[in-house]
Amino acid sequence: MSDFIQTDVLIVGLGIAGGVCAYELAKKGLDITVILKNTVEDDGSTHYAQGGIVYFGENDSSEKIYNDIIQAGAGVNNPEAVRVVSTEGPSIVKKILIDEIGVEFFRDVNGTLEFTEEGAHSVKRIIFSGDKTGKAIISKLIDKLKTFNNVKILDNHVAIDLITWQFNSRDRLRMYRDKTCLGAYVLDTKLGKVKNVLSKVTVLATGGMGRIYLHSTNPDVATGDGYAMAYRIGVEIINMEYTQFHPTTLYHPLKRNFLISESVRGEGGIIVNSKGERFLFKYDPRGELAPRDIVTRGIISELTETKAECVFLDATKVGSRDKLKDRFPTIFSTLESIGIDMSKDLIPIVPAFHFQCGGIKTDTYGKTSVKRLFAIGEVACTGLHGANRLASTSLLEGVVFGYRTAQFIFENIDKSMFKEFPDVIPWVDTGEEFPDPVLVKQDWDYVRNVMWNYVGPVRTRRRLKRALSDLKNLLNGIESFYRDVKVNRDIIELRNGAQTGFIVALSAWSNRESIGSHYRID
Ligand code: SIN
Repeated sequence: MSDFIQTDVLIVGLGIAGGVCAYELAKKGLDITVILKNTVEDDGSTHYAQGGIVYFGENDSSEKIYNDIIQAGAGVNNPEAVRVVSTEGPSIVKKILIDEIGVEFFRDVNGTLEFTEEGAHSVKRIIFSGDKTGKAIISKLIDKLKTFNNVKILDNHVAIDLITWQFNSRDRLRMYRDKTCLGAYVLDTKLGKVKNVLSKVTVLATGGMGRIYLHSTNPDVATGDGYAMAYRIGVEIINMEYTQFHPTTLYHPLKRNFLISESVRGEGGIIVNSKGERFLFKYDPRGELAPRDIVTRGIISELTETKAECVFLDATKVGSRDKLKDRFPTIFSTLESIGIDMSKDLIPIVPAFHFQCGGIKTDTYGKTSVKRLFAIGEVACTGLHGANRLASTSLLEGVVFGYRTAQFIFENIDKSMFKEFPDVIPWVDTGEEFPDPVLVKQDWDYVRNVMWNYVGPVRTRRRLKRALSDLKNLLNGIESFYRDVKVNRDIIELRNGAQTGFIVALSAWSNRESIGSHYRID
């Protein structure tokens, strides 16, 4: 087995979910290998999460959290997942993030946690660290992980495909087995070498898919890798039509789609059209603080009606220049760098893709439909979010299910099923030359335009039908192209992105009912 690396647990992705899972398992002494595509300083959506994380506000209760999540999710949430998160969430946040790793959330002069508000929350319950909440959490988590000798963090490593008993072993009776994951083929992008990683347990924590859309708040790593790898081995995937669009991303050529946190509205920011008029109350009595899908569609209708290119976020009444600078340092300085002073100027905004509410179907311990394969965070779907995610529940979801999945893995990993390995076929490169970057770029542009125009915030049968046929043709081409070239990150991501786009289009096509973030006008 000299070609193979062996580990107890392989975690693919190092955002909040993967990080918490690794941390919990590391404390218990298991041997953990974490792979990530970029570097620990810059990888995944957690680094960019601005708003905050749901906690327990004043006069709050699990019941109120439960109801708010279900209301935002249009009632198609999985009640069990919502119950777990609303009852256990705040105490897991306290235990891990506050007490154990010491995340510095904003506190008042008496040292009491401050709360902010975001859309569709019935009380102020979101704790935050300025507008860098994700960074404040992930940097502490990574510092902690680095203190464990039993955790190996491999940056610049991209998973190509999951290794399964069925597809990648020499076991002649493999077809009679239950589907079982045995690890992953992983490309070390610095060495240009593929490693065969075998694991008792594999956890997908690969985050989302925003970069398959032309306009997105997501970082470059969000190319849908986890969904596509899972799909290729036959894992059950659900709710992929529930694609959340964030209503307030910057409309500016120098910083297109930079996120302007919902907490700016929570602190009193309003949205106006080019005539300076508020218009969102036409769509919902909660106005700017309605759930994101409603605000997004309100903005799109206004843009269509007025033929304007963007609407505006007015934060000029939120507080003084100093207050804005202190409360929203990233947003303030980013806007300032392109000549917008948010204490005086209106901020041009448009909606963009933000979050995938569906994903790999799991129970509330991260278990998927394939043995020894778990999924957590955005790539997973417990059904928590239903058809539209409530603001500031994504970090919460990552902590809760990262934690619970680790507990489940630890309690079960010594069972014989996890220890068995067949003879696995190592990776073989089929092509000699790397893919032509011009062809890769053209195909990416195609995927992103198809997704934005045909599978965007407003959908029709015709648009979806076109998306399906375009993506299917493209996928066929990419698959044969992939088999002819030497594998690199570009082709891995393109193959995954196109595959994920197809899955989303198919789910959207199959669901004729407009619910939450899936909106059809025919
Ligand atoms: C935001 O700050 O608006 C994003 C937070 C979230 O997606 O929950």
